[in-house]
Amino acid sequence: MVKSLSLLVGVLCASMASAQGLKDIYQDAFLIGSIASHQQLTHPDAQTRALFQREFNVLTAENDMKWQRIYPSPEGYNFAAADALMQQAEDCQCQVVGHTLIWHQQTPDWVFEDESGKPVSREVLLSRMQSHISTLMTRYKNDVYGWDVVNEALNEDGTLRDSRWRDIIGDDYIAQAFRFAAEADPDAELYYNDYNLNAPAKRDGAVRLVKSLLAQGIKVSGIGMQAHYMLHSPKVSQVEASIQAFASLGVEVMITELDISVLPFPKQAAIGAEISEIAAYAEELNPYAKQLPQEVQTALAQRYQDLFTLFYQHRKSISRVTFWGTHDGTSWKNNWPVRGRTDYPLLFDRDGKPKPAYDAVATVPSVMAQ
Ligand code: XIL
Repeated sequence: MVKSLSLLVGVLCASMASAQGLKDIYQDAFLIGSIASHQQLTHPDAQTRALFQREFNVLTAENDMKWQRIYPSPEGYNFAAADALMQQAEDCQCQVVGHTLIWHQQTPDWVFEDESGKPVSREVLLSRMQSHISTLMTRYKNDVYGWDVVNEALNEDGTLRDSRWRDIIGDDYIAQAFRFAAEADPDAELYYNDYNLNAPAKRDGAVRLVKSLLAQGIKVSGIGMQAHYMLHSPKVSQVEASIQAFASLGVEVMITELDISVLPFPKQAAIGAEISEIAAYAEELNPYAKQLPQEVQTALAQRYQDLFTLFYQHRKSISRVTFWGTHDGTSWKNNWPVRGRTDYPLLFDRDGKPKPAYDAVATVPSVMAQ
């Protein structure tokens, strides 16, 4: 009797342990997110669905809420994939973050032009901006709790990036976007999102930007650090300095697009995530086309563990950590900054199986509790 009871307890514990995903392990710390790609939205596969169910409690569309996809031509919106995301989120009882309303990339030219292809006036572009923000935020009011309102508005030196938004509207285009967003859904959280926010000059630029928005009485709920990292950079201490700088503004900090490339970064590409900067393919840039050597697998696990130890230490400031992909096979890093490589940036391998990096991340809270 005693033996079978302990056996039963053992079996129950084992099944509870395997039913636990990262979302449960980190439930007292922050949300754990992933992205849904077009393929998964239009042809959902059972394996990805199961991963969503078990591991994550917040989803973002990888591309399908970007202007180019959801409003490709002036003829009208195409909500099909974004609607499918809301369905998937319901299936896994996940919350949804909207990505992204205003960006210099993946926005069609027609947005900035009149019928003859000439740039529109500030007034016309502001009105298009307002209408787009209001259309998306109203449609998904009940489903999306937070939005990346403006994405990647800063240069590496912390100054404002040149873009068609800025050229036509002026420097206040960011403030205008946040104002329109706050009007469209007063309950939604509103974020500024960017890459390389660990770099000191860019970090300072983001602090200046968000401080000035807040000083104007504009609602900004949080700053998203994209976190397209590499094995040896950035330093954990740099990431920490940014988390602290952003938290001290009184806004939420989010790690919004986490992946860790194990591949060499081509010299001619700027380190970061500017999606238009693609370098030429070369064999030496694709060293693990067949498989990942054990020592690199171990280094990746260690790197993930170091980062999650930091995130966990700062869990009072961090509200969400989202991976930019579910498993290695579908990661954008296989095609950026060089097309056609084999990268290993996530926690699940190409068969959807957890990697050593997964175990490293999963054990952080219990190790730190000791
Ligand atoms: C990427 C997608 O993952 C790719 O599929 C697409 O081809 C380009 O955009 N910063 C962002 C994300 O904010 O939207 C980008 O996503 C990666 C960099």
